Amino acid sequence: MVPRRGTPALGSLLRLLCSRADGLLHGMAQPSVWDRFYAQQDAASPNSHFNWFFSYTTVSWLLLPALQRWGPPEPKPSPTRVLDVGCGTSDLGLGLYQDSPHPVHISCVDLSPVAIRSLRRLLQDVPPPRHPLSQLHLCVADATNLEVNSFEDSTFHLVLDKGTCDSLLRCPQGSGQAGRLVAECLRVLQPGGSLLQFSDEDPDARIPFLEQASGTGVTVQEVGHIGGICYYVYMLSRPPLQAPTNSAAD
Ligand SMILES: C[S@@+](CC[C@H](N)C(=O)[O-])C[C@H]1O[C@@H](n2cnc3c(N)ncnc32)[C@H](O)[C@@H]1O
Repeated sequence: MVPRRGTPALGSLLRLLCSRADGLLHGMAQPSVWDRFYAQQDAASPNSHFNWFFSYTTVSWLLLPALQRWGPPEPKPSPTRVLDVGCGTSDLGLGLYQDSPHPVHISCVDLSPVAIRSLRRLLQDVPPPRHPLSQLHLCVADATNLEVNSFEDSTFHLVLDKGTCDSLLRCPQGSGQAGRLVAECLRVLQPGGSLLQFSDEDPDARIPFLEQASGTGVTVQEVGHIGGICYYVYMLSRPPLQAPTNSAAD
């Protein structure tokens, strides 16, 4: 049986959003559709974040310890590098940047220039980060082809995706795009680094897709129930480099 994608879970939210942005449901891979959505969002609630599913505070309990895993040995801190793909105007990257007791370099990318412009404006008023060496960078980029924007292999410790893979999967021919997204996220991860996908899609649909797209194992954890919808975090890791073994001929 073909697993059913999580349409009922997104249904009520999408109906609400589509009343503000015609065509969003059918054009989630098109920048112009998202540009229109974020422009309407900005006009309706200027100077506020729009958070798909939930805000940073819902998942800070999970993210801050994940950052700590790569926490630098004191007293010589080196930053943990984080990428948020399809950041929109959400407060996920910003929350981590402000909250992390360790230095973090966070890159937030989105296909929509309107979203990045709004997020940049929101950043103007934020207090300094908790760690003085932390940095936040925003960039318009296609997360299915990050090489164009010079995102190199093995750069990040952690890649975050909240709702972006979901939106690609809901487009016609979306699984190809979503597969490219997953491949790019893994390419830019350091060996041993992790991709965390936040989604409302059921594990019986998402896990087979991710296993096929990544060729690697997937673990899943419930994030919680919000408004009667269960949200999950899907975790994929890039295998650590193997130490070279001495051959008998050495
Ligand atoms: C469902 S929204 C999630 C936004 C944000 N992560 C949040 O939690 O509020 C999907 C986002 O992915 C962006 N997006 C869609 N396709 C993309 C792509 N190929 N590369 C980068 N961003 C993309 C859209 O512009 C939109 O901001």
